[in-house]
Amino acid sequence: TGALAPDSATHERTAPRTTQRDASPRRFLMCRPEHFDVTYAINPWMDPSKPVDTALAIAQWELLRSTYEVLGHQVDLIHPVEGLPDMVYAANGGVVFEGRAMAARFTFAERQPEGAAYQAWFEDAGFRPTIQAESTNEGEGDFLVVGRIILAGTGFRTSVAAHHEAREFFGAPVISLQLVDPRFYHLDTALAALDDRTIAYYPPAFSAQSNAVLRQLFPDAIVATDADAEVLGLNAVSDGHNVVLTDKAVRLHERLRERGFNPVGVDLSELLKGGGSVKCCTLEVRA
Ligand code: ARG
Repeated sequence: TGALAPDSATHERTAPRTTQRDASPRRFLMCRPEHFDVTYAINPWMDPSKPVDTALAIAQWELLRSTYEVLGHQVDLIHPVEGLPDMVYAANGGVVFEGRAMAARFTFAERQPEGAAYQAWFEDAGFRPTIQAESTNEGEGDFLVVGRIILAGTGFRTSVAAHHEAREFFGAPVISLQLVDPRFYHLDTALAALDDRTIAYYPPAFSAQSNAVLRQLFPDAIVATDADAEVLGLNAVSDGHNVVLTDKAVRLHERLRERGFNPVGVDLSELLKGGGSVKCCTLEVRA
């Protein structure tokens, strides 16, 4: 109920809105978690001995999908493949930027077949050129577009070679960032792009040098608390005004509201068992 109500309903309106922010319509690619399960562990969140309720995962995912549609965004679907339980995390399928598509090359054997499935979707959707990357990379899990620059994570999954490949393929500046905490194994677990020049991030997930880079590029970034990061609050999707994220990241909801964003809370607890939240389930298709 009320997934779209700004949750200020339950708070006093304390901070004044300093900025008027504009939402812009987006196009997202998602994969219904019909085959979702945790049968192997490739990140510290995954525990195959814990039960997964696939029906609940589907229900939570459906609410995320309808949240995007109610906000005015287009949601496209890729066919879920049996035997690929992590395919629901569509963000990892590739990067689509200015109509060019680079499909992922996954780190672990368990997810490698997903690369071809996403590549085929990009081709069928008409993105030219579409390539499969030469170097190991997990798509928007580690590449986040902020305006016309691309922030790129490395350390656990995506290689630095893939950062170079993305720079050459997209012709855009790519800033490499070193991830250091295995709980935050993808860039999108530790950093959220909120609009063309604003990010939120969790400093302890990055090396000292990468923290210096982030402070220099984004001096007015929102800094997330341990509690916000530990519920994957930064795994968020923004349209420039509405920020869809887990309802558990309560401090981050407050910080966003103070800065003129509208946090929209959703419950993706079942998908958290695979180590992902809102952004992981969402690939932004940038025509
Ligand atoms: N179980 C998946 C994996 O470890 C989760 C991927 C989460 N996706 C993301 N964009 N962070 O690969």
